[in-house]
Amino acid sequence: MSQPQPPNADAPLANLDDWDDDVRRRYSQAEGDPSASGTPTGVAQHQFRNYEEDTRSGVREFYRLNHRFQSVDFVRSQRQKYLPLRKRQMTVWEAIESLNAIIDTSDPDTEASQIEHAIQTAESIRRAGHPRWFVLVGLIHDLGKVLCLFGEPQWAVVGDTFPVGCAFSEKIVLPEFFRDNPDNDNPDYKTRCGIYREGCGLQEVLMSWGHDEYLYQVVRHRLPVEALYMIRYHSFYPAHREGEYGHLMNDQDRLMFEWVRKFNPFDLYTKTDERPDINRLLPYYQELVEEFLPGRLQW
Ligand SMILES: [Fe+2]
Ligand SMILES: [Fe+2]
Repeated sequence: MSQPQPPNADAPLANLDDWDDDVRRRYSQAEGDPSASGTPTGVAQHQFRNYEEDTRSGVREFYRLNHRFQSVDFVRSQRQKYLPLRKRQMTVWEAIESLNAIIDTSDPDTEASQIEHAIQTAESIRRAGHPRWFVLVGLIHDLGKVLCLFGEPQWAVVGDTFPVGCAFSEKIVLPEFFRDNPDNDNPDYKTRCGIYREGCGLQEVLMSWGHDEYLYQVVRHRLPVEALYMIRYHSFYPAHREGEYGHLMNDQDRLMFEWVRKFNPFDLYTKTDERPDINRLLPYYQELVEEFLPGRLQW
């Protein structure tokens, strides 16, 4: 097993999944889950402690950058850059493969590949008896991480998401790091509603840029509205876990966030060491993708 590396200034997370692991740790501790500390199997305790310290300092550094740079101007420029969706044409399977290539090479210790996380999430949704489009969301929800293919830094791909253009909630993880955000100097962005109207609906709200919004834009004309909410807001922990930003929501948002909350445990708690039998499951998933998202998609 290789030694964990100390955080590096450009890529403070040794692995993009360290963010997901940290969210899992944060919320499972809050719920008193006895398995919360989650020592990986086969890792000596002292080695795990080092790993955890390095991971935690990496995660802190990650949020320092994320909170500093996710501003209204940054989000607008990312939307201009990506939302024409003219970067690439890829099938769902090509996107999954490219994610494997990016993320797995960055962490030789990772047991589960991206396709395994995708299929584990989807399988637990299927076992719970949810409709096919819900299972599909489990499979594809993280595909927006292909933003890494285009050279985006970690802080512009993953991380809890939050609105920009209005006051940052104190319940966002590590809120003290927002002091370095340039929007702090703009009085228009510092009030409770900022540039938005009370109850305007999240459709009007600019969210910090990352894999949720990007994938939402790629599939927005192809899936039911419930699925689109789950994809677009699955990292919006300040709202779906902390109950913040209700003043910007409309009735549809409140209704649809029930689905976002329904999806969240499948994303958080299905990472196991048990490896799915991909070959056996593949025909089912090929048919599922063919049903909703056939052919090449515009990225
Ligand atoms: Fe995600
Ligand atoms: Fe995920």
